Amino acid sequence: TGEFALIVTIDGPAGAGKSSIARQVAQSIGFDFLDTGAMYRAVTLGAIREQIEWDDLAGLIAFTKKSRINFDCDRVFLNDVDVTEEIRSPTVTSAIRYLADVAEVREELSNQQRIFAENRNLVTDGRDQGTEVFPNATCKIFLTASPDERARRRQAQLQRIGRFMPLDEILAAQRKRDAEDKARPMGALRPADDAIVVDSDGMTTDEVLRKVLQIIQQVMQSQ
Ligand code: DC
Repeated sequence: TGEFALIVTIDGPAGAGKSSIARQVAQSIGFDFLDTGAMYRAVTLGAIREQIEWDDLAGLIAFTKKSRINFDCDRVFLNDVDVTEEIRSPTVTSAIRYLADVAEVREELSNQQRIFAENRNLVTDGRDQGTEVFPNATCKIFLTASPDERARRRQAQLQRIGRFMPLDEILAAQRKRDAEDKARPMGALRPADDAIVVDSDGMTTDEVLRKVLQIIQQVMQSQ
């Protein structure tokens, strides 16, 4: 099952523009798209709603195992409830580590990701897609940008939805999340040995998109 399907992984730190690039890449090459960050976000929101304590590991693991996460167009559903907006809240973002640090939670979500990938061509974005979940992926990209550039983009993104946050606050939150993402004992943020690193500093979204598509084309042709 899934033996002949093609997988493109796009990993990288928060704010590097992964999701938006990965989505557009998938659309351009006619592959399905999986946002694995949304899966971690959805179970975190669910655990908050169920009032599971963060130190109740058995409770967190059991909850993850009974969580069904579905995607429909750009909407995200947790056990059939639309959670698209709620999973982006700062409360959820800052609590994700309580689940993302638990090995059994990662194993469960990684399994769900592999099942999602069965029998279809997929572009998947996250932190550990090229390293842990799909080590045999056809093409692995590590998309990054400097902390300053990522923070500025985040600020602009917030401004577009009418919210202002000072740059130093964004930088501090980002630094914390980068450190947590890199320190994770399992599924830590790092480029796979065979990943191609794209540093998007000073590039427009269109330029990044073109660059990534070019890399994918080259990798596919060389196989
Ligand atoms: O991509 P994002 O910002 O929506 O991801 C939110 C968090 O989820 C991220 O800080 C760490 C966790 N995550 C993970 O541990 N593994 C993934 N494959 C994707 C996300």
